[in-house]
Amino acid sequence: MTEAFYDHLAKTRHQIHQHPEVSEEEHETTVFLKAYLKNLGIEPLNYPLKTGLIAEIGSGHPIIALRADIDALPIKEKTGLPYASDNGAMHACGHDAHMSVLLGAAKILQQVKDDLHGKVYLLFQPSEEDGEGSPYMRRFGTWYEESDAIFGGHIWIDLPAGKINIEEGHRMAGAWEFHIYVHGKQGHGAQPHLSIDTIVTASAIVMNLQPIVSRHFSPLDSVVVTVGKITAGDRYNVISGEAHLEGTIRYFSEEIGKDLKETLVHVAKTTAEAYGATAEVTFRQMGATLTNDAKLAQVGQRAVTKLLGEATLAPMEKTMGGEDFSFYLDKKPGCYAFFGIKNPELGAVHSHHSNYFTIDESALPKAAGVYAEYTAEFLNGDD
Ligand code: NI
Repeated sequence: MTEAFYDHLAKTRHQIHQHPEVSEEEHETTVFLKAYLKNLGIEPLNYPLKTGLIAEIGSGHPIIALRADIDALPIKEKTGLPYASDNGAMHACGHDAHMSVLLGAAKILQQVKDDLHGKVYLLFQPSEEDGEGSPYMRRFGTWYEESDAIFGGHIWIDLPAGKINIEEGHRMAGAWEFHIYVHGKQGHGAQPHLSIDTIVTASAIVMNLQPIVSRHFSPLDSVVVTVGKITAGDRYNVISGEAHLEGTIRYFSEEIGKDLKETLVHVAKTTAEAYGATAEVTFRQMGATLTNDAKLAQVGQRAVTKLLGEATLAPMEKTMGGEDFSFYLDKKPGCYAFFGIKNPELGAVHSHHSNYFTIDESALPKAAGVYAEYTAEFLNGDD
């Protein structure tokens, strides 16, 4: 990796970082990406995407799709960096780095395209944060049906800079957002017997949801039930007639996911009933279980070893985080990598989605190289 390539990718990231756009509003970001690719001689495919883009390099078979997500979060940045955003949004998950990395990979692949035995689709995907982006991308063109494999990854603050994790099996959790609406009867705070108190009911529901994890499922299964927000009540002496709970569930097998959803609904409804109230539950899926294909994980391990040496590979426990990359994997095999960015000396220690989130950018050229090497290994590996 040359110093110039590092500088170029860091500068590209800074430009993107300074102008973040939240999910479904990545218009200027898309303009930037298109201009960058055109400058490389890559014309984005003519699909009517509102935001994001799809481009291709090479031709024939096999075919691999490389994915980067492009949306930011509605978070006010506090890093104080010279290229910090001041528009109220922030690339606090690191998708600015993902774009810089995939652009860098495109630059490498475009230079060697005559040596590629197959085709690469470049996916710059909007709306990862709301889980809508990957199903959206699948609606355009034939890239999905044609692709033999899909490769993606995330820069990762729990992994030291210089390390890369690629391994087979479960990597990220199935994730759903849930809402519980509790209906009771409003009344005077001094006459609880004449009303149905949804704050007491909602509190009981929160407490009754936790034993689902500890008493319904095996201790060996990884399950999360989190209530992140409760809204109820108008005033200290009014008994609340409505309550709204919002939360998320996480798991690693679709069977457990189904059981978890059914049990959550049962507990919410029967608890409400015990207090004389009623409850309705709604769900929205944010990600399926993300499972790396064994062979494709090996391709990744070979690519990292060839490019950066075997010592770069690091084991890492799977995470309860969700990723809409998983929605690409219901019909196609894929592989998802984690690129270490943690470096206490640079202050790169804050969690993803923190307004102090920052990264060790030495990961950028390494990740870009791995995307390109992965592609070469996948397309040309069997020669
Ligand atoms: Ni992310």
